[in-house]
Amino acid sequence: MSRPARSAETRIRSYDSAGLAEAAALIAAGEPVAVPTETVYGLAADATNDLAVARIYDAKGRPSFNPLIVHVSDLAMARRLVSFNATAERLAAAFWPGALTMVLPRLPDCPVAGLASAGLPTLAVRLPSHPAMRALISAAGVPLAAPSANRSGGISPTRAAHVLASLGGRIPFILDAGPARDGLESTIVRPLDDAIILLRPGPVTPAQLETATGLPVRDPEAGAGITAPGQLESHYAPSKPLMLNCDVPAPGAFHIGFGPGPCQRNLSVGGDLVEAAANLFALLHEADESAATRISIAPIPRTGLGLAINDRLRRAAA
Ligand code: TXA
Ligand code: MG
Repeated sequence: MSRPARSAETRIRSYDSAGLAEAAALIAAGEPVAVPTETVYGLAADATNDLAVARIYDAKGRPSFNPLIVHVSDLAMARRLVSFNATAERLAAAFWPGALTMVLPRLPDCPVAGLASAGLPTLAVRLPSHPAMRALISAAGVPLAAPSANRSGGISPTRAAHVLASLGGRIPFILDAGPARDGLESTIVRPLDDAIILLRPGPVTPAQLETATGLPVRDPEAGAGITAPGQLESHYAPSKPLMLNCDVPAPGAFHIGFGPGPCQRNLSVGGDLVEAAANLFALLHEADESAATRISIAPIPRTGLGLAINDRLRRAAA
């Protein structure tokens, strides 16, 4: 089940070679680790591992699955995840490494977990400048998904002590490299061919974006179909009718189970909510692509990560 406290003890280690090695080993084991960036401390996990990403949401107690920013250690790693247009190339040259996140189309073979981008065809990518975060990504050898390292609804942490106060007992490890410099989350943009859509204001200003590219910066409302973060309602939704809270498979439906019972596919046979979250988007896609004309899904308990799963399903069924 969703454990309220997965890690009885949260260790804090300074950013040195031993601390880095311990953090990288935990990442390799699929655990979330708090690590500083130049903006705020992030709660990082292997972005290619659905279960590791589910543990981020579990530790934060997020009541919904907001897509996460995926952090890379160099431009080559970013190019293996998303497709860059000319605007993205110019922005990367001007502001990376740094506090700019770009939302770009996922490549067909993008290895990032569906849960990290909430099933969306786009991915938010950032190349941070902080040496600790970059060293951890390099040591882990995989991109790291990382939202701010605080309980959902709390304020973003700029020191290891803030992380401990918010997530102590819920995460195994904090890599301490002193205060985060900016104290404000990165600027998020959607680079288009003829404009830049500003999804979240941050340390990189609209004037800087315009100067670097010669393109206008627009609000999300001006960019058809692109939703502002936070108010992001347009997560992946199946194209077929979705029936919720079905104790038994609906006739003719692709039934997604939870716990024991007949079904086409199961979110978690053992009733583990973290495992269920990790499987959610892959199974919704699979059900959508099946021959069945509708999808039914078993009831999911409204505790722990079950809140986020139910929130997601409610939107998908709306
Ligand atoms: O400074 C930062 O950006 C920090 C540090 C740790 O790097 N990270 C951070 O991540 O603020 P997070 O997960 O709290 O913020 C992610 C934001 C959310 O508001 C989400 O809606 C938006 O990015 N986002 C992520 N993927 C998106 C996508 N594919 N399309 C639109 N918005 C997206
Ligand atoms: Mg946050």
